[in-house]
Amino acid sequence: MATWAGTEVSALNPLRALWLTLAATFLLTLLLQLVPPGLLPGCAFFQDLIRYGKTKEGAPPRPAACRAFDVPKRYFSHFYIISVLWNGFLLWSLTHSLFMGAPFPNWLHGLLRILGTAQFRGGELALSAFLVLVFLWLHSLRRLFECFYVSVFSNAVIHVVQYCFGLVYYILVGLTVLSQVPMDGRNVYVIGKNLLMQARWFHILGMMMFIWSSAHQYKCHVILSNLRKNKAGVVIHCNHRIPFGDWFEYVSSPNYLAELMIYISMAITFGFYNLTWWLVVTYVFFSQALAAFLSHEFYKSKFISYPKHRKAFLPFLF
Ligand SMILES: NC(=O)c1ccc[n+]([C@@H]2O[C@H](COP(=O)([O-])OP(=O)(O)OC[C@H]3O[C@@H](n4cnc5c(N)ncnc54)[C@H](OP(=O)(O)O)[C@@H]3O)[C@@H](O)[C@H]2O)c1
Repeated sequence: MATWAGTEVSALNPLRALWLTLAATFLLTLLLQLVPPGLLPGCAFFQDLIRYGKTKEGAPPRPAACRAFDVPKRYFSHFYIISVLWNGFLLWSLTHSLFMGAPFPNWLHGLLRILGTAQFRGGELALSAFLVLVFLWLHSLRRLFECFYVSVFSNAVIHVVQYCFGLVYYILVGLTVLSQVPMDGRNVYVIGKNLLMQARWFHILGMMMFIWSSAHQYKCHVILSNLRKNKAGVVIHCNHRIPFGDWFEYVSSPNYLAELMIYISMAITFGFYNLTWWLVVTYVFFSQALAAFLSHEFYKSKFISYPKHRKAFLPFLF
């Protein structure tokens, strides 16, 4: 495993700067939500920009101008279609390079250099980035399957800015993973020339955590969709109800918690030391914490009987 000392901790390349900025923006937004409402001037446009889906219901009344920017929330599937295609292409390019020695296309290599690709410095494992890219692709494929065959969407909406962000998000995440592949010019650098010889204990640990978190996220999405079906599996309404079972017994948004754990499992697969990836994890932490906090507030305001012991995002803590 490479050490912190072996990484260029001080180098703030464009990708790191981007993830840091996103993480800081969501942290600030979360902190603003924690301030008592009376102390801050209400801003419908700001609330409209940070809330989506059911949490828009808990916001101040939405001016007609806000509604002009509504996009159906069921369009979440578009994010995963793009991710499966784009990250599938990146995975294909990496596989081609690793197993057949084919260099990355010029434009892709150029793009990675601009974003801050990892030139081989000693210790980085190509296998780690390869596994993380496989995990990202499988995650997107499962989410796409869920959007089409598991989730029951209501007429909930997202802001067009959130929609556009979602479209570029998985492109950026895939490029971030690929930029962590140790390069030697346009070719991938494989220490020892044999990928399998790079297998380490943290790859197994990361994989187990990825499978475990993914299984729980899937289970939570099934529980949510069952809230809108009868015993025969027929959709009977599109309202929001109180979910029970699995991690819902501890937090209001276990699917967001599972998302965070999926990204942490990738940090483990990178060998714990990858600063760029920890910045991605930090962004996911604050963006999912904000969404979970708003969902929790929504549930508490809508249901008097909402379980008191249930936290928003982190069991027993927050
Ligand atoms: N990595 C990232 O940056 C990122 C960002 C956003 C989301 N995500 C992930 O994407 C997944 C989906 O996110 P999401 O925000 O759409 O999750 P969500 O709000 O929990 O919705 C998931 C599904 O359940 C339905 N639903 C939600 N609450 C319900 C309730 N109380 N009763 C009945 N049905 C309910 C929703 O329908 P309607 O909303 O249509 O009513 C939707 O079909 C999550 O796992 C999340 O972690 C990741």
